[in-house]
Amino acid sequence: MVAVHGERGRACGAHLYNTQTAVSTFKPVVLITGASAGIGAAFARIFAAHGHELALVARRVDRLQALADEIAEGGRLRPVVLPADITAADAAAGLADALIARALEPAIVINSAGFGLRGLAADLDLGEQLGIIDLNVRVLTDLSLRWTNSMARHGGGVINVASIASFFPGPGMAVYYACKAYVLSLTEALGCEFAPRGVKFTALCPGPVPGDFHARAGIVEEQLPRQLTRSAERVARDGYAGFMRGERLVIPGFANKVAATLPRLLSRSLMLRLIERYQLPKHQ
Ligand SMILES: NC(=O)c1ccc[n+]([C@@H]2O[C@H](COP(=O)([O-])OP(=O)(O)OC[C@H]3O[C@@H](n4cnc5c(N)ncnc54)[C@H](OP(=O)(O)O)[C@@H]3O)[C@@H](O)[C@H]2O)c1
Repeated sequence: MVAVHGERGRACGAHLYNTQTAVSTFKPVVLITGASAGIGAAFARIFAAHGHELALVARRVDRLQALADEIAEGGRLRPVVLPADITAADAAAGLADALIARALEPAIVINSAGFGLRGLAADLDLGEQLGIIDLNVRVLTDLSLRWTNSMARHGGGVINVASIASFFPGPGMAVYYACKAYVLSLTEALGCEFAPRGVKFTALCPGPVPGDFHARAGIVEEQLPRQLTRSAERVARDGYAGFMRGERLVIPGFANKVAATLPRLLSRSLMLRLIERYQLPKHQ
């Protein structure tokens, strides 16, 4: 019987890998994208508090440095700061080189960098919508697969920040919702494939989280449904605990868990109308 993690992993892992996990002298590190704000920064604080060494990635170096200082002042190892626009063609390879130069290798990767845009797809800028796919899908896929050997060596894995949007089609944020459906699908499938190697994959599916995300997306925070809303700290705490338990799917908060079951109970056309009304109230 192959060892797998968590309730949802039981059916997986019937196949076996014949690759051997080579020994490495590199030190394990938790690589966090989107660490300059929101959920990524909250993850950094939680992993640091549990004694993990961190590598923080985002574009705003001042914010990353401030977070690294804060963690160091709290008595933890100062995180490595790796400023990068991770959508640049050579960015992932650059991160890999920067880690090798420090004799570090990812045991855990947290893909939290991401953004969305609210509006009719026909009205939103096409280039920006393709940019959502680039960051939330292409880069996330690259960073999910790039270091699986070192993750296997250290018994680590990947936390991909998906969304409650992963469960629905999303008129009013069509590309974003579609990207998050991809993230959930990919993460669950990779969790199944990599179970025999002891590499964990967790899809974290929060509802609304107050922070910079909404200003970028064109969403007024005061309009967020309170029952579904959770802080970045709470979401990261649930994500950390779920990942450590080997859960493939973590949905913070009871109301969000209920919301995620709606597609099984309602017709697809009714689901579409509900999300449209939520995302585009002015168009009703
Ligand atoms: N907030 C919500 O309501 C909510 C709900 C469900 C799921 N999520 C998902 O949770 C994840 C994190 O969201 P959040 O609320 O923490 O958003 P946020 O506060 O806006 O943070 C986004 C992070 O992504 C980084 N980032 C954006 N573009 C980047 C790029 N090209 N290269 C490198 N870093 C980049 C940003 O840093 P720089 O600007 O410094 O580069 C920032 O650290 C996203 O995937 C989002 O879709 C959010």
